[in-house]
Amino acid sequence: MQTLHFSNKKCSKILGIPSFGLTLVLLVCLASPISSCTEQENGALLQFLAELSQDGGLAASWRNGTDCCKWEGITCRQDGTVTAVLLPSKGLEGHISQSLGILIGLQYLNLSGNSLSGGLPLELLSSSSITTLDVSFNRLNRTLQELPSSTPGPLQVLNISSNLFAGQFPSTTWKTMENLIAINASNNSFTGQIPTQFCSTSPSLALLDLCFNKFSGSIPPGLGDCSKLREFRAGYNNLSGTLPDELFNATSLEHLSFPNNGLHGAIDGTNIANLRNLVVLDLGRNNFSGKISDYIGQLKRLEEFHLGNNNMSGELPSSLSNCTNLIIVDLKSNNLSGELTKVNFSNLPNLKTLDLWLNSFTGTVPESLYSCSNLTALRLSSNNLHGQLSSRIGNLKYLSFLSLGTTSGGSACQRMT
Ligand SMILES: *[C@@H]1O[C@H](CO)[C@@H](O)[C@H](O)[C@H]1NC(C)=O
Ligand SMILES: *[C@@H]1O[C@H](CO)[C@@H](O)[C@H](O)[C@H]1NC(C)=O
Ligand SMILES: *[C@@H]1O[C@H](CO)[C@@H](O)[C@H](O)[C@H]1NC(C)=O
Ligand SMILES: *[C@@H]1O[C@H](CO)[C@@H](O)[C@H](O)[C@H]1NC(C)=O
Ligand SMILES: *[C@@H]1O[C@H](CO)[C@@H](O)[C@H](O)[C@H]1NC(C)=O
Ligand SMILES: *[C@@H]1O[C@H](CO)[C@@H](O)[C@H](O)[C@H]1NC(C)=O
Ligand SMILES: *[C@@H]1O[C@H](CO)[C@@H](O)[C@H](O)[C@H]1NC(C)=O
Ligand SMILES: *[C@@H]1O[C@H](CO)[C@@H](O)[C@H](O)[C@H]1NC(C)=O
Ligand SMILES: *[C@@H]1O[C@H](CO)[C@@H](O)[C@H](O)[C@H]1NC(C)=O
Ligand SMILES: *[C@@H]1O[C@H](CO)[C@@H](O)[C@H](O)[C@H]1NC(C)=O
Ligand SMILES: *[C@@H]1O[C@H](CO)[C@@H](O)[C@H](O)[C@H]1NC(C)=O
Ligand SMILES: *[C@@H]1O[C@H](CO)[C@@H](O)[C@H](O)[C@H]1NC(C)=O
Repeated sequence: MQTLHFSNKKCSKILGIPSFGLTLVLLVCLASPISSCTEQENGALLQFLAELSQDGGLAASWRNGTDCCKWEGITCRQDGTVTAVLLPSKGLEGHISQSLGILIGLQYLNLSGNSLSGGLPLELLSSSSITTLDVSFNRLNRTLQELPSSTPGPLQVLNISSNLFAGQFPSTTWKTMENLIAINASNNSFTGQIPTQFCSTSPSLALLDLCFNKFSGSIPPGLGDCSKLREFRAGYNNLSGTLPDELFNATSLEHLSFPNNGLHGAIDGTNIANLRNLVVLDLGRNNFSGKISDYIGQLKRLEEFHLGNNNMSGELPSSLSNCTNLIIVDLKSNNLSGELTKVNFSNLPNLKTLDLWLNSFTGTVPESLYSCSNLTALRLSSNNLHGQLSSRIGNLKYLSFLSLGTTSGGSACQRMT
């Protein structure tokens, strides 16, 4: 009703017909909806333009006095309300104006891939209409201020990755965002702890990417409450401590990766088996120790298993043969020992990379390996393996990297096919 009333008023104004012609005007309006954005929205966009030092040519279409719904990068609803500002990779420089927060119907804001600097206005984070906010790949270089507690907003997707944000990562801000589905804050310079309370307030969180920052402290147990979390990446930080038991209650996880941190401790088998949806497990370049549990065999969907550059010991569990979807197995540079023949590699037809470099494996190269016809990279060097290669290695048509030497560094030979 309100929409009709609104366009009605506009039409009367435009057509200069007094209200007695209401029915007629209504018909005209329905036949050809004439709607332009309001003066307020027009002004908010012009203010945004004014705060840019490089506008990438926007000024050519963003002219005062013309309908802003027709401007480059602007999308409106039928009634003339601006719903989207989509200006990715337009060569924009300068600041993001808080005036965009005035656009009461703005749902999508995409300023990715420009050279914007300064901060991200809180007005955008706390907007009562924005659901998707992408400012990735810019030069935003302030701290991301904490939002004062307010009513929950509709924000679902926040991509602030690949900027120059520094300082403490907000912790209480997330309490006002109960609709969050994805946060990508990777590739910045955030410091401090990973916030504990993401999911008590954002129960829908499915993606959390905090890679390539300077987070320290331990992995907060609270993340175990994230029952919808599918992807959690926190690699290339300064995290320490052990993996909290609670984390393994986030059973929707498909992708869990924490490479390049200072994490340590054993990886509990029954815990791991809880994460039965895991497709990628990347714990490389940490200080994990202990054995690779038999329970790994219960991760039937596992495609990538990275535990290289840790302090793992013991044998490879034969149950690894049960992870029949494996594509990458990287266990290089650990203290693993025992015979490789324990694993039936013929159960792993998709295996492309097997890197066991720098361990203490003994025995021979397992025959079953020759049935992994998709193998492209095989590195077994710097172990205590002996014996000869079978002629069946000819089955491995795609093999382009093969390293088998026993001494440190190995003898890598490139094989052309
Ligand atoms: C746009 O035009 C209106 C009306 O002519 C005027 O009041 C307003 O100040 C102008 N805005 C800018 C940013 O020039
Ligand atoms: C923003 O635009 C870029 C470039 O078109 C696109 O790759 C990206 O997916 C968009 N962001 C969102 C959240 O849709
Ligand atoms: C942010 O970047 C701008 C433009 O490069 C620079 O002038 C400003 O000093 C930087 N601010 C901070 C806090 O680093
Ligand atoms: C930013 O992240 C969102 C959510 O993951 C994604 O949809 C969007 O494509 C990303 N933007 C770019 C430029 O990759
Ligand atoms: C997050 O954004 C970065 C680019 O800034 C991208 O490389 C990465 O894949 C994104 N993470 C996810 C989970 O999509
Ligand atoms: C990190 O951000 C820089 C600057 O935007 C970009 O050049 C680089 O590709 C990004 N790295 C990743 C891993 O996304
Ligand atoms: C890494 O974290 C430890 C505490 O866990 C801290 O002492 C150290 O200064 C941090 N290093 C960097 C480079 O932030
Ligand atoms: C995991 O969740 C179950 C049931 O939701 C709960 O009983 C258990 O205490 C949780 N475990 C941890 C370590 O949080
Ligand atoms: C692993 O632990 C050792 C001994 O405690 C320590 O010297 C080393 O710095 C740690 N490595 C990492 C990547 O945290
Ligand atoms: C590696 O693990 C062994 C036990 O398996 C332990 O004695 C040793 O201290 C660990 N080394 C490091 C550097 O953590
Ligand atoms: C593989 O799984 C099957 C059934 O799920 C089980 O009976 C068998 O013991 C497992 N094999 C190994 C080596 O764990
Ligand atoms: C090998 O890889 C191809 C494509 O990468 C895939 O379709 C196929 O299922 C894989 N497995 C075998 C046994 O060929």
